[in-house]
Parts: sequence; C-alpha cells; structure tokens
Amino acid sequence: MNRLAPSILSADFSQLGQQVSLIEEAGAHVIHVDVMDGHFVPNISYGATVMKSLCGKTKMPFDVHLMIENPDQYLEDFVTDQTEYITVHQEACTHLHRTVQHIKSLGVKAGVALNPATSLATLDYILGEVDMVLIMSVNPGFGGQKFIASALEKVAELDAIKKEKGYDFVIEIDGGINLDNVKTVTDAGVELVVAGSSVFGAENIPARVKEFLEIL
Ligand code: DX5
Ligand code: ZN
Repeated sequence: MNRLAPSILSADFSQLGQQVSLIEEAGAHVIHVDVMDGHFVPNISYGATVMKSLCGKTKMPFDVHLMIENPDQYLEDFVTDQTEYITVHQEACTHLHRTVQHIKSLGVKAGVALNPATSLATLDYILGEVDMVLIMSVNPGFGGQKFIASALEKVAELDAIKKEKGYDFVIEIDGGINLDNVKTVTDAGVELVVAGSSVFGAENIPARVKEFLEIL
C-alpha cells in the first residue's frame, strides 16, 4: 500500500506535538523530517534535537531527508528507535557508496535523493544497494513550491528500471504534491508520498490527510 509522509517543515512549530498527533490520528503513515543546513540548500530548518523531541510522542516512523553537506558527519544523530529511513542527496556525497553503507551499518534503511536536474544514471551503480530513491519534484530548500513536471517522467523511468532489474527499493516523491497530482505520481510508481504545505497548510489538517489517504 502507498504511504503518506507529511513533512513537518510546514507545521506550526509552536505546537509541533499537537500537529503530529492530528496527522497520526487521521491515519498518516510516516513523518517526513526535512533537515536543511543553509549550505547544500539556501535555507536552515531544524536538526536532530527537534526530531528527537517527537520520539515516543508518536508511533509513526521517521523518514529523515538530509539536505546537508557532509551528511556522514551527522548520520548517528538521526538514528533513533523510530528512524526508518535516512536519505542523503547524491549531489552532496562524493563517496555515495560509502555513505549508503554507513547508513545501513547504523541499522537504518538508506535512501538517496536526486535534485530535479540530476540524472537517474548517476545512480546506476548504487540502485542495487539502496532501500529508497527520493525523486525531488522541486528544487529543495523550501515548502510550498510548484511541482516540476519532468519529475513524473523520472519516476516512470525509475519504476521501469526497478521492474526490469528486480530491485526492491521504494520510490518516494517530494515537492509540490497536492490532491490534484498525487494520483498521477502513484500511478507512475511512487509508493511514499511527501506532502508539506498541502497537509499543514490546510484549514482542516485531519480532513486533508483523509482526502490524501482516499486517493492513495
Ligand atoms: C523541500 C522539502 C520538502 C518540502 C515539501 O525542500 O524537501 O519535503 O517540505 O513541501 P511541499 O509539499 O509544500 O512542496
Ligand atoms: Zn523533504
């Protein structure tokens, strides 16, 4: 079954615990944790301390999206009993194979993210090792941006490669997802859907989660 991962980047941080409870009670599956360092992306979000403040407050697993330089240096900080995935950017990793092995050695599933302009071919020799591929459908750094259409083609190509070679990684999409385009991306092969502003910007957050879940 496809899963919904609301991104807390668009949550009201003054009541983060409460907002996470809202999405959990409405049936969201995973919490997407966007970590930005002001170097790899032109924005700073929050770090492991904020994520860890949610440990035990929710049963949802964490899907950590590291938009940072030198991710190897910080991987351990994001390992908790609830961490399901740690995803690093291909563009931030000189030794991607080593970084993927490092994540797996910590007992966490390893994801690799691709910016909109980065080719799938850059992952040719690592696809057999990864647990997830995150296709960015916006340039990372900010919530609330418009979906970049070429991401759809990329998902479809990745899904074809996955089937042809028998890989079992999960395909995730992140950026500009809303009720109007979510079905198109899951039809193309996406199994884990990130949604930030379309969930936390809704007037009725639980109702919005339920609307997504009906489509998924
Ligand atoms: C973008 C982040 C996304 C972002 C998505 O840099 O990686 O996870 O929060 O937000 P929306 O869904 O508003 O595009
Ligand atoms: Zn993200």
